Amino acid sequence: MRFVTLLSAIAVSSSSWTMMSAAFSSLQTPFVRKASSLSMSASDDSSTITIGIFGGGTVGGGIVGILDKKSDYIKQLTGGKNVKIKSICVRDSKKKRDFDIPEGCTVTTDYDDILNDSSIDVVVEVMGGTTDAKDIIYSAIKKGKAVVTANKALIAAYLPEIQEKLDEMGDDAPEFRYEAAVCGGIPIIRSLQQDFPGDDISMISGIINGCTNYMLTGMDQKGMSYDEVLDEASKLGYAEADPTLDVGGFDARSKLRILMRLAFGVDVDEEDIACDGITDLTKIDFEYAKMMGGTIKLIGVAKTTTDAENVAAFVSPCYVTNSDPLATVNGATNAVEIISSNLQSSTYIGQGAGRYPTANSCINDIVTLASGQKTKQPFNPESKSKKFVQDYDSVFYIRISYRDGLGITRNLGEVCEKFGVSIHSILQNPITSKDDAGFVVITEKVPLSNIKKTCAELEECDWCNGEVFYMPVLREDWVSN
Ligand SMILES: NC(=O)c1ccc[n+]([C@@H]2O[C@H](COP(=O)([O-])OP(=O)(O)OC[C@H]3O[C@@H](n4cnc5c(N)ncnc54)[C@H](OP(=O)(O)O)[C@@H]3O)[C@@H](O)[C@H]2O)c1
Repeated sequence: MRFVTLLSAIAVSSSSWTMMSAAFSSLQTPFVRKASSLSMSASDDSSTITIGIFGGGTVGGGIVGILDKKSDYIKQLTGGKNVKIKSICVRDSKKKRDFDIPEGCTVTTDYDDILNDSSIDVVVEVMGGTTDAKDIIYSAIKKGKAVVTANKALIAAYLPEIQEKLDEMGDDAPEFRYEAAVCGGIPIIRSLQQDFPGDDISMISGIINGCTNYMLTGMDQKGMSYDEVLDEASKLGYAEADPTLDVGGFDARSKLRILMRLAFGVDVDEEDIACDGITDLTKIDFEYAKMMGGTIKLIGVAKTTTDAENVAAFVSPCYVTNSDPLATVNGATNAVEIISSNLQSSTYIGQGAGRYPTANSCINDIVTLASGQKTKQPFNPESKSKKFVQDYDSVFYIRISYRDGLGITRNLGEVCEKFGVSIHSILQNPITSKDDAGFVVITEKVPLSNIKKTCAELEECDWCNGEVFYMPVLREDWVSN
């Protein structure tokens, strides 16, 4: 066992390319112009794609605005197609909207006004939820209407059922597109559908929740406390109404579940994915991370197991070295890195939420539909052999709070040995209180299940104060270099 007070970070090299997705800066203010270019009446004209939108909120308003602004360009791009919004369905049709309703477009509260309108080719679902939205999408598929949705919660919960509904339609299955559902404006779905047919992905990892990344950046760079930074994130509109979805890691887990299916062909009940949020992180963890030459990010990871036979996944705060492509992704920005045999490391960075980044992805889907492009397998083919496994191997960071006394390191070593945990190094800040001291253990690569047993037994030791905190180190080769 080695004692160190400073562990220098080992650079993880990767030939990465980075795609910066610029937000629609010219569209960041609410719309005040009249959307005259979309004001056409219903028609059978094959040069018109008629859409009905469920939801006139943040994303819905963005879609209306972009379609108005870019209609001429979209027409050129699609060989002369007009994209016309015929109807927008909302909860409250009297509510004042922060965008202009296109001329000739009706605002309704009746789902059937869109679903039973045979002139509507595309249903855009941006209302959210998993009950009515599910019925709407299933009904649209059954009626042969193409679907564009931003609803990650729905897809994460019902992906196999959605596939079933599409399969039931056979050759008449309509297009199902959902670029906006994962990481808002980053074209990660399209990339996973199109760019890796000749490649083998071994890991997909990402900062896929903007609120928590904003919070961790504040804790790391400004030394803010968890409560201070959550308050700031809420005021800036980065947190969900119930921030548990963000800070508990559940929003990231829904996105990871979708990415995992696309990258590995593996389906999983999202609740089976290990999910630790950021609530147990403290300022001390950031001090240790700095000492080691890195930082902490909430990351969703899906990776092949050591024997490459199966796939493990988790959402957790992770220690990342400063040389990692994900380490410098700060604020509410999202990033996804894909490691694969041919391309090695490909990193996508951009805006993961917000009106225009998210609406931009919906527009891309609509334009793709209008151009007549088809996606036979919207979720990529299912793997014939790989399965999801809950346990995963990683290097771990373990923080232990203790009352100082004799024999603690011997006892620590015994417990670690009992569960096959090899200690790489131990870090300790100077002790200021003998009753409330702390140290951090970095392990060698070990299964999560062994770490859980080790931590549970350490918590039983009479010198241990409270719960033992652990998190994975993102790159397991970090300790062996
Ligand atoms: N906002 C983002 O940055 C973002 C990013 C990625 C994905 N998404 C996804 O996009 C979807 C929409 O998000 P949002 O932020 O645009 O939500 P939002 O601002 O709350 O807007 C929701 C809209 O849907 C309407 N609506 C809700 N329930 C309805 C119902 N039962 N019947 C009819 N209309 C209903 C609401 O009508 P009223 O206005 O009348 O209440 C509202 O216009 C969600 O699935 C979300 O997860 C959002």
